[in-house]
Amino acid sequence: MMAAILVAGGAGYVGSHTVIKLLEKDIDVIIADDFSNSDERVIHAIEAITGKTVKSYAVDLTQKEEVRRIFDENEIIGVIDFAGFKSVGTSSKAPLAYYRNNLEILLNLLSVMQEQGVYHLVFSSSATVYGNPESLPVKESDKQKPTNPYGQTKVMSERILRDLAKSDERWSFISLRFFNPLGAHKSGDLGENPNGVPNNLAPYITQVAIGKLSELKIFGHDFPTSDGTSVRDYMHVDDLAEGHVAAMEYLLTTSNKFSGFEALNLGSGKGYSVLEILRAFEQVTGKKIPFEYVEKREGDAAESFASIEKAKEFLGWEPKYTITDMCLDTWNWQQKHPNGYNEA
Ligand code: UD1
Repeated sequence: MMAAILVAGGAGYVGSHTVIKLLEKDIDVIIADDFSNSDERVIHAIEAITGKTVKSYAVDLTQKEEVRRIFDENEIIGVIDFAGFKSVGTSSKAPLAYYRNNLEILLNLLSVMQEQGVYHLVFSSSATVYGNPESLPVKESDKQKPTNPYGQTKVMSERILRDLAKSDERWSFISLRFFNPLGAHKSGDLGENPNGVPNNLAPYITQVAIGKLSELKIFGHDFPTSDGTSVRDYMHVDDLAEGHVAAMEYLLTTSNKFSGFEALNLGSGKGYSVLEILRAFEQVTGKKIPFEYVEKREGDAAESFASIEKAKEFLGWEPKYTITDMCLDTWNWQQKHPNGYNEA
């Protein structure tokens, strides 16, 4: 058996890009995913892009025996946990499902890791832990005030990791709080593939550009920002994937002697308004993207962007791509796969 990293939720948008980065570094990977919000064809895309085969498990990670089976059948040396529900809106309507699913997956992974003596985990957290930022750029030490159950599951997960780290110094955890991922794989064969009408900005814009949706609805035009639309920190999904690999490598490098828990922001450190993103997409696609202003979305902050100094210092990580790169890659993916994986 080869020593491998278990990537829970490895078929999702960020997970799949991280798997590719690991494989490109000759790090063996096992994917575990229930494919509830992803597609089994992602695995084929990963294999075609990297020229490597990947072992994957279609499993419900809320079932502890299933998690144990993966560890029994493989030599796992570290875990990256992307698995969980991630819709803000749904989490407010079905909080129990969110708390149960997101926390149970993490608890199962940690319990089985403890049984098996595996002590390194990178956790996918979110900028949503900060809620409406009190000051900018957002720092890791800022107050955590999530405005919805999804965000609460991330705060609670970090709490669990902190407490566990205190109980036994063999544990080492890095929680990555990421801002807004954008872009797709250079090949155009892997990208964000939401089910139904997209909630997030970028997939919505590209579906307008390609003619599947008629116009973008911009949520609010009177925010206290330069052009009145809300500002976010967008980063290329490839940069985000690099950040996850850097974090895992950091934990596995024994000379770092790292034990405990650390939370790091991953973002570009810059803010762009909805209109700026729209204009960037217009330039890249050469198409006019119609829009109308509608009511603000409940809970949306006016402005959020990260301080990324801590991640730079800790991991030696830095984002490489520009907004234009992000839009180009998103558009390339959208054009090559207008219906996600549902085409011949
Ligand atoms: C959202 C979630 C966040 C989650 C992240 C990744 C909310 C409140 N926050 O972040 O917790 O971690 O997605 O999944 O849902 N916008 C429009 N029109 C649209 C879509 C978006 O104007 O059709 C605007 C939004 O107001 C926002 C920006 O575009 O200012 C980005 O929105 P989105 O992509 O949904 O990300 P966030 O809301 O930042």
